[in-house]
Amino acid sequence: MHQVLKALMTMLPDCEDMLVENIVRPFHLSDDDYKKIMDLMLESFNKGLGKESNETARVKMFPTYVRAVPDGTEEGDFLALDLGGTNFRVLLINLKGQEVTMESKIYLIPQHIMLGTGIQLFDHIAECIFKFMKENCLLEKNLPLGFTFSFPCKQKGLNKAFLSTWTKGFKCEGVEGNDIVKLLHEAIERRGDMHVECLAVINDTVGALMSCAHSDRNCALGLILGTGTNACYIEELPCVELWDEDMEDPNFVLINTEWGAFGDDGALDFIKTDYDKHVDKHSINTGRQIYEKMISGMYMGEIVRLVLEKLRRHGLLFQGKGSEELSTRGRFYTKYVSEIESDVDDGFKNTKQVFDELCIDHFTEEDCRIAQYVCSLVSTRAAYLASAGIACLLNKMNRPEVTVGVDGSLYRFHPHFHDLMMEKIQQLLNPGLKFKLMLSHDGSGKGAALVAAVANRLNAEKKL
Ligand code: GLC
Repeated sequence: MHQVLKALMTMLPDCEDMLVENIVRPFHLSDDDYKKIMDLMLESFNKGLGKESNETARVKMFPTYVRAVPDGTEEGDFLALDLGGTNFRVLLINLKGQEVTMESKIYLIPQHIMLGTGIQLFDHIAECIFKFMKENCLLEKNLPLGFTFSFPCKQKGLNKAFLSTWTKGFKCEGVEGNDIVKLLHEAIERRGDMHVECLAVINDTVGALMSCAHSDRNCALGLILGTGTNACYIEELPCVELWDEDMEDPNFVLINTEWGAFGDDGALDFIKTDYDKHVDKHSINTGRQIYEKMISGMYMGEIVRLVLEKLRRHGLLFQGKGSEELSTRGRFYTKYVSEIESDVDDGFKNTKQVFDELCIDHFTEEDCRIAQYVCSLVSTRAAYLASAGIACLLNKMNRPEVTVGVDGSLYRFHPHFHDLMMEKIQQLLNPGLKFKLMLSHDGSGKGAALVAAVANRLNAEKKL
């Protein structure tokens, strides 16, 4: 009897590992799975680009009106707004050819405004602009503004952007279907105390691309891995049936893919885990942004939390005893995933700190190891899914060398995201194609100012 017990005891860790493995198995995807995802994505992209098929397509492939890049002659002060990432920011940007200097300030958008009415949202934005201008003694000036508005918009001009649907944590009534530039101008007029004209609206992916293209001529793809995820790329006009402007020169256009919506038609059901379904069900946009929900920072922590909770309930973590915090939806932040995965052979310092913040006071080193493993599985799947998207676009573009301009908190702060993506994209890419991933420095601010500056220059030329 004693012998049997002893044998069981030594087997236990392995046996426990197997039980853990059973719970996390759905996160392991094969290369064939990723290749299948690429095929399905290509179908979705083409459906979005087609004139007839666009209406029912989930991935909208919006043409942007950004068709001129800065030529270095842009000068002056510009305001920029950045809405849709971790923070709302107002920026003052001074351009002097290649030289760019900026001031910026972060303003909070309270939850009740994110879920309130459009009027409240734009009044709040106008108030923040006013405060910023007052603090920087700009109220007497007449400043052009570029707006990085990181939500899906159907553009009808550089400063005409109709919100198609809210994503991420926003749901303000009365904005969907409307021109957000008009809503902003109306809010500014309601106040009547400043002179600001919005000349351009861009998506954050476009900002990332523009800011990298400024220094790297091969940059033809912009990627965001932050609160949400999305990509834009340079497409040749003949492939864009949706393009109905007569302007044919230059013969390319930037396409904002809005790939976060990939899978909304069920294309990703074959890899969806119960955890993904749970996250989707409890979100404010159930059934939408399925690809985004498997990848981006707004959801990653919650996926990890759900897995940890399941392990705990099965007695495989924390001896079955958790905490109120660990059981609370949204309480396991995505930054914890980055922190936990940053622990290397140093006695799980960060992991223990995270457990501490979650008020878990009884844990072993084995618990730390398991938590780290779960984080790495969830983030690796995210990095590989994003890689499948990038490889799909690179293969479609079929240019010999492309630089991808990347921004977003997840990409910036996760210790392995960059390396994981480099490895996976390389594997999935057609032979002979080369790529680079380049960190974009403040694309959302700089990009908006650059686009506004170009518009300002073109407007001035027209008036001559
Ligand atoms: C969401 C938005 C998209 C944005 C992305 C990254 O997917 O719909 O417009 O680019 O988040 O911020």
